Amino acid sequence: MRLEIPTNAERFGANLFYQVQKIYELDGGYGVDSEFDNPFHVIQQISYERLHEIEKDMAIVIPVKDERLRLLEGVLCGIPHACLPIVLSNSKSEPIDRFRMEQNMVDTFCRHAKKKYLIAHQRSPELARIFKDGGYLHLLDDDGLVRHGKAEGMLAGIVLAKLAGKKYVGFIDSDNYFPGAVFEYVRIFSAGLSQGKSPYSMVRIQWHSKPKIVDAELFFTKWGRVSRITNQYLNQFLSHFTGYETELLRTGNAGEHALSMPLALALDYSTGFSVETYQFVSLMEKFGGVLPSPFPEIMKRGVEVFQIESRNPHLHEVAKGDEHIKEMVEYSLSVLWHSGICPATLKKDISSELRRLKIVRKNGEPIKLRQYPVLSTLHFDAAVRKIDWAQYGNYKPV
Ligand code: GDP
Ligand code: CO
Repeated sequence: MRLEIPTNAERFGANLFYQVQKIYELDGGYGVDSEFDNPFHVIQQISYERLHEIEKDMAIVIPVKDERLRLLEGVLCGIPHACLPIVLSNSKSEPIDRFRMEQNMVDTFCRHAKKKYLIAHQRSPELARIFKDGGYLHLLDDDGLVRHGKAEGMLAGIVLAKLAGKKYVGFIDSDNYFPGAVFEYVRIFSAGLSQGKSPYSMVRIQWHSKPKIVDAELFFTKWGRVSRITNQYLNQFLSHFTGYETELLRTGNAGEHALSMPLALALDYSTGFSVETYQFVSLMEKFGGVLPSPFPEIMKRGVEVFQIESRNPHLHEVAKGDEHIKEMVEYSLSVLWHSGICPATLKKDISSELRRLKIVRKNGEPIKLRQYPVLSTLHFDAAVRKIDWAQYGNYKPV
């Protein structure tokens, strides 16, 4: 890949948030181009070898809830062979067993492709056992099963990736129509993570555009309704501490993102669709230097957050309605509002935005969402001892 070098960044404590990077060539060519020997260039080439090195250590978690099988199959097809896909499903098993259908499709697909994979149902007792054995009970509900929700599926996916011995974990939604876009996202993950100088890094994808039909014409929108709002307040949050107004953060709702495992295990998470925005809140709270950090090692090494703009348009299942959009805005802004370091002026602005959107009533407070503490407290050794890998597909860590 040939990728812009990020020249601009915002620093907040130990966090370095880089500006959005532009891709020049999805395929950067074989070998190392000696043109880049000159130090005065703005583009970098990331070699095939480097991309492969990361991809063989990367799991891609695919959260699924009642999506069309064809879409899920397309997503699998877009994932580079060296990566381990982990399908984490919360699909119905009644009246039709959709999960069984997913399992069959994924197994057949991977048998033909000779591809390693893992698949788990979010509500299966086996998956819950990992959290019981590991002594991390926060994720379990009264029935002793992993709670419902996208974030909850992602957390389970991170844990499976860690148990599978992976060093990186990425996330790709299962409702994507273009396998080519999925392929690009994973390449962006590996290219982004390859730039990290610290062991604690993250890559987030900014979509180039989303195609829509407007007056019978194809129109490519740049900003979704939710991202526009989330990013505005996220930037205000950051500006408050740096003292400089900024528009640098563009990926507050990036479902497509990847983390190095040590960072994935050191963040707090927030439930359902608030998970992506909350990653920024957790970074700012934990490593911003405003509150004492529970991880002095990370404070020393620093955290790097890369934002990269994809070239493919993003087309996913759109028939999910206005209520879904409202919920996304509510969830994203609530986690900012409830942060222990959210400035009072920003709280006021967020409250009036939520009132304007008729999400919160006058004098009402934004919803307080469930949070999960760092996964590094899970006893992975205890959990892995009893795990039966055959239950989860055809992958067995060495
Ligand atoms: P949007 O794209 O952000 O509007 O949200 P989607 O409704 O498309 O959800 C994002 C991804 O998460 C999709 O792949 C869904 O199938 C998946 N998903 C949604 N809810 C859950 C859940 O409770 N558990 C799991 N495992 N996946 C979920
Ligand atoms: Co979607």
